[in-house]
Amino acid sequence: MHVEGIVTVAMIDLHCHILPGIDDGSTDADEACALARALVADGVTAVAATPHLREDHPAVRLGELAESCRTLNTSLAAAGVSLTVIPGAEVDLLWALQASPEDLQLATYGQMGRYLLLETPYGPLPDTFERMVFESLTSRGLTVLLAHPERSGSFQRNPSRLTDLAARGVLLQVTAPALVSTDRRSGSRRLALWILERRLAHALASDSHGGMDGRPPNLSAARQAAAAIDPAYAEWLVSEAPAAVLAGEPLPAAPADKAVPSQRFRLPWRRR
Ligand SMILES: [Fe+2]
Repeated sequence: MHVEGIVTVAMIDLHCHILPGIDDGSTDADEACALARALVADGVTAVAATPHLREDHPAVRLGELAESCRTLNTSLAAAGVSLTVIPGAEVDLLWALQASPEDLQLATYGQMGRYLLLETPYGPLPDTFERMVFESLTSRGLTVLLAHPERSGSFQRNPSRLTDLAARGVLLQVTAPALVSTDRRSGSRRLALWILERRLAHALASDSHGGMDGRPPNLSAARQAAAAIDPAYAEWLVSEAPAAVLAGEPLPAAPADKAVPSQRFRLPWRRR
C-alpha cells in the first residue's frame, strides 16, 4: 500500500485500552475482539495493552496483565485475528510516585523494565511536574514515554516545557485523534502539529478504548496527517520507533529533518 508516495509498513500501536473489563476500555471479550479486528483493518499488527494504573481503576492488577494478554492473544488467534497484544500500562504519576521498583517494572512495555507510558495529567501541571518525573522515574533507570502531551492546557500555553522534557530524554507520544481532528482551532491539534513539525514526537498511537468511546482506531489517518509534514518521519513514528520500544532497545535515529524552519507550524499565541 502507498501513502503520500512511500511504501508503508505494518504499524505498531503503543497505547490502547484493549484488555476487557478492567478499566474504561473494552467492556468484555467480544468488544476486545471487535477492537482488535478494527486495529488490524487499520493496518496495526501489534498493540500494547495499556490499562490505566490509577486510583479510580482498582480492577487493573499488575500481576494479572501478562496472563490477560496471553489469554487475549489465544482467543484472537482462534478467531483468526492477526494481532499480537503485548503487556504495558498507562501510569498515573501519583501511582508511580508510590510504586515499588518491582511494580514499576511490571508496568513497563513487555514488562522489560525499560520504557514506561506515563499519562499526562489533565489538570494544570505544577512547576514541579518535571522534577517529579525525573526523580520518580528517570532516575530509576526508566525511559518515560509521555502520553498525549498535546491535550494538556499547561503544555499548550507553554510548549517550551515539552522541548525541555524531550531534550532531557523524555519521549513524547502524540495521539491520533488530535492529528486527524478537523477543528482547526483545537488546542490539542495545534500542539500536536507543533510537536511533530519540530520532530519532538517519538510515537503516534491510537489510545483506543473500544466500543464505548464511539470512535474507531485511526492510526493510519494520523500517519497520513504526519506524512504531510514528512513521510519518512511518519513511518518512523508508527513502525521503527514503537518496535524499538516493544523490544526494549534504543530508539533508532529519526529521519533527518529537511523542513525549512520558517515554514514550520506556529502556535497562534506565539504570532506577532
Ligand atoms: Fe489512554
